[in-house]
Amino acid sequence: MRLSYRLKMAVWSMFRSAGYEIFPRGDKGGRYETILPTSMYSPWNVDTAFQDCYQAIKSHTLVDIFRCYELWTLAQQSAKLSEGALIEVGVWRGGTGALIAKQAELSGINQPVYLCDTFTGVVKAGVNDSTYTGGEHDNTSLGTVEKLVADLKLRNVRILKGIFPDDTEHAVESDKIRFCHVDVDVYQSTKDIIDWVWPRLVPGGIIVFDDYGSAFCDGITKYMNEEMHKPDRIMLYNLNGHGVFFKR
Ligand SMILES: C[S@@+](CC[C@H](N)C(=O)[O-])C[C@H]1O[C@@H](n2cnc3c(N)ncnc32)[C@H](O)[C@@H]1O
Repeated sequence: MRLSYRLKMAVWSMFRSAGYEIFPRGDKGGRYETILPTSMYSPWNVDTAFQDCYQAIKSHTLVDIFRCYELWTLAQQSAKLSEGALIEVGVWRGGTGALIAKQAELSGINQPVYLCDTFTGVVKAGVNDSTYTGGEHDNTSLGTVEKLVADLKLRNVRILKGIFPDDTEHAVESDKIRFCHVDVDVYQSTKDIIDWVWPRLVPGGIIVFDDYGSAFCDGITKYMNEEMHKPDRIMLYNLNGHGVFFKR
């Protein structure tokens, strides 16, 4: 992991825990501000199946409970679609991937869940990414994810090691996708993944983008904002840090 990313996150966390927010330079009250939703409904607290799974995976994820619960419910919703595998690119230690796979199993989806990661960190950072430089989140391993999958007794998971789609697309046997979670932090990786997923995504299919709206992952916001106007998709900005495309 590069120092610049570590330093930024450490400073940001320190200020946040002291009750202060750091905004991108000169942007407070502009494109970025602190968002505090006023709704109080919190079904993740009383959903026992979710809680059982979340307690088992929470030490393996960087994703907060709100986004985890959205993945949980959208993976369940994807069972209404008649066909297609599920895929996550950006697995790190396996937390969100295992959560999606558990829900797919509980929902009776009889298709594989592909979990794809380099296991050597972020790739393809470039001019559209102001914080990431490449190599971040390399503090994981294939074995870490294999163990989590085994501990949860998940039989529907296929783990693909390497850059997706460049190195591992050939290992995806399904030619249709119903649900995709993309959590790769930078613009170009996201673009290459969606260029691969979109033609395979069934009508009604769902793509969840982690970090949409994050000041640290501005490449993701840029990518979705460029694509959202295409006529074959509906876009949702959920204020929790997820952007979602639904295929028409
Ligand atoms: C933020 S982490 C994923 C977090 C994970 N979803 C969780 O539950 O905490 C981003 C991951 O994306 C992976 N990654 C980035 N670009 C990739 C690509 N094109 N193919 C495969 N993995 C990629 C990195 O190796 C890293 O593990």
